[in-house]
Amino acid sequence: MKRPQVVESVSDLRSVVREWRRQGLSVAMVPTMGALHDGHVSLMRIALERADRCVVSIFVNPTQFAPTEDLDKYPRQLAADLDRLAEAGVQLAFTPTAAEMYPEGFDAKVVISGPSAGLETDFRPTFFEGVATVVAKLLLQVLPDCAIFGEKDYQQLCVVKKLCCDLDIPVEIIGAPTVRDTEGLAMSSRNAYLSPAELTVARQLNKILRQAAQALRLGANAQETLDKARRQVLEAGFGSVDYVEARASDTLAPWRRDRDGRILVAARLGATRLIDNVEVVRS
Ligand code: PAJ
Repeated sequence: MKRPQVVESVSDLRSVVREWRRQGLSVAMVPTMGALHDGHVSLMRIALERADRCVVSIFVNPTQFAPTEDLDKYPRQLAADLDRLAEAGVQLAFTPTAAEMYPEGFDAKVVISGPSAGLETDFRPTFFEGVATVVAKLLLQVLPDCAIFGEKDYQQLCVVKKLCCDLDIPVEIIGAPTVRDTEGLAMSSRNAYLSPAELTVARQLNKILRQAAQALRLGANAQETLDKARRQVLEAGFGSVDYVEARASDTLAPWRRDRDGRILVAARLGATRLIDNVEVVRS
């Protein structure tokens, strides 16, 4: 198993990628915040099916965390993460410091309206500014042929696609299916915070969403179906529900029955906030 090369500076990153380009190799990128699990590894597999070389960035991006959120507590495990990269056959890890990404005097902010509106933004108002800013920087630092993002963070995937479209960033954005455990719980670095009892509750979330998506497909009233799903999430043992909404899959505009849709949910369990989403097949 070959260890990936690890670089911390943008200039070292660019010189590795420049050499690959000189050799005529194609490049894919997978941005991450580390604490890697099978969901992240699935993105690396897709990257390496599509390109000759894969860069994975591991950077816990401070600008996407609100002061009240878990920036300091976010799991950091670089040695184990590098083992996952080696298993997946990734060639390059980019592990910048916060000072490398946001040097003294950094003033830029990337704001993508459209798909950022509502959902996560209602509860984490500056989250997508932080995500769009760091993803714009990472994509421009590497300039890969393609970058892979998970459908797990569906609104984020839509924001990143719009970022590249509106700013003419020449990188193909590929959405990858959500990897789940045997009970259907979407894998997440934050699942590590859950107690065994909370894990049992968390595993109900995807089942409730799938039932709701099936009901919508069969023609049930949308508002009643979403209200019922919200009640079921609370009955399952979640402390509160931030949102359960149905949106159009491409633009995240309100869902209409003749369009492909997604039901998106965010709910809190103890100190942990979980998100998930499922497809609503057009009826
Ligand atoms: P992070 O939460 O580490 O996720 C990195 C990538 O892995 C994202 O594209 C996310 O959607 C994907 N992912 C997470 N869980 C997944 C699962 N169960 N199945 C499939 N893919 C999954 O998302 C971020 O980091 C950050 O916001 C980032 C884009 C890196 C910007 O800082």
